[in-house]
Order: sequence, then structure tokens, then C-alpha cells
Amino acid sequence: MSRKPIIAGNWKMNNNKAEARELIDGIMYGVSQLDGDKMPEVVVAPTYTALWQVYDIIKNEPKISLAAQNVNPNPSGAYTGEISLSMLSDFKVKYVIIGHSERRQMFNESDEFINQKAIAILNSGMIPIICCGETLEQREQGVTDVHLEGQITKALKGISAADVEKSVIAYEPIWAIGTGKSCDAAEANRTIGQIRKVVAKLYSQATADKIRILYGGSVKPSTIVEQMAQSEIDGGLIGGASLKADSFIELIKGAM
Ligand code: 13P
Repeated sequence: MSRKPIIAGNWKMNNNKAEARELIDGIMYGVSQLDGDKMPEVVVAPTYTALWQVYDIIKNEPKISLAAQNVNPNPSGAYTGEISLSMLSDFKVKYVIIGHSERRQMFNESDEFINQKAIAILNSGMIPIICCGETLEQREQGVTDVHLEGQITKALKGISAADVEKSVIAYEPIWAIGTGKSCDAAEANRTIGQIRKVVAKLYSQATADKIRILYGGSVKPSTIVEQMAQSEIDGGLIGGASLKADSFIELIKGAM
């Protein structure tokens, strides 16, 4: 199975112009020292206001791709505060993160809305990074797998196998996000294996074998090597540890 790993930094609501510049300059320098053939795909997801600047700095560096943290699925119109896919395409955005638990929980985003976004993103030629994950309560109740199956089934509704194969899923247990308490690597591997089985059930084993599934939740330089050694984990979606160039470069190296 040759799924190219991804190390993706989700900057969340961090970094003004100067901070974004310092971070991306540091990442550019670090990446320039690494062997591109061995590197995972490196993705950075700045805020909308930093997209232009980051795009301008990385545009001639094929080792780094740009992601947006969100998008509105409608083409244009009266959606105050929202950003369209056409706007993202100005910056050659390759990936769009959708269904992050912070958006599901704080902004009440529904499975149906996330599905609309996934379809719109794929129709525009970009790639969704579809996040899923359970709460601590759900894990303790033993309903993690059922919950994830529901989230994935709803997110992928109406999407062709060819589009699913290009897509990326990020398994981010909510209790592990920003807590410093990463999910045990073997358990993350088991859970991601379950997600892959859901994709196999909905489509085929061949499709399930192609889709990349990342782990997210307190990934750090000290955890990445063990995480990347797991057969089902195809990379990381990283918040806190992606905000410093040194630690982000360590994460990239940990995936090589
Ligand atoms: P942390 O790496 O800060 O736990 O965040 C994970 C995350 O939510 C990435 O999308």
C-alpha cells in the first residue's frame, strides 16, 4: 500500500501578518534542508488573512501545499463573513479542512453542511480534509466506532469512489485536541482501521486502501515517530506543535 503521508499544520486562529511570515519563513528554510523524495507531503493551513502572504512565499516550493481552514459551499452571494472556493482558488489552495470539532461544537456545523462542503470542494478540484472524532463521554460509553461511522457515512454521502480516493480523513478524538494527551498510538491505529473499514463497506476495499487517514490530537515531536510507525496512520493534522517552525520541522522529519 503506498499512501503518501501528510504532515499538515492547522494554525487555527493564530498568527497575524508578522507572525505568519516568521513561521512560514522558518518552515521554508527547514524544508529546504530536507530530501524532497523522502519527505511527506507538507501542508500548512493559515488563517484566511494570511493566505495571500503564505501563498506568495511558498508558491515556488513544490514541497509545501496550502490548505484553508474552512470554506462556504455556496459559489457567491449574501453570506456575510464567509469565503468561497473561487476565492481560495486565487491562492492555489489544494486542501480544505472541514468538519473540525471546533467548528462542529462552537459553530454548530451539521453533518449535512459538512457533506455539502465536501461535494463543493471536490467539484472545484480541491481536496477535503474531513475531520471526525468522538468526545470523551462517547469514548467512555464505548460508542466511538458507531459515532465515527455515522460522521463518515454522512460526510461522504453522494460522493463517488474516485473522489473519495483523493480525499483525506483526519481522525481527531476531541479529548486529545489541545490537551497534551495524545491518543495511544495503537488505539489510534485501531480506530483509524475501523474508519477504513467503514470506507470499504460504503465503497470497496480498493477505495479504502487509497484514502489517506491522518491522526490529530496533541501530536508532538515526541509522539510522531510511534504514530507514523502504525500501519493505518497516514500522517498527522497538527495544531499547537505546528506553530513553531522548529517543532513542525521535527514532525516532518519524524514522518520520513
Ligand atoms: P493540537 O495538535 O493542538 O492538539 O490540535 C489538533 C487539531 O485540532 C488539529 O486540527
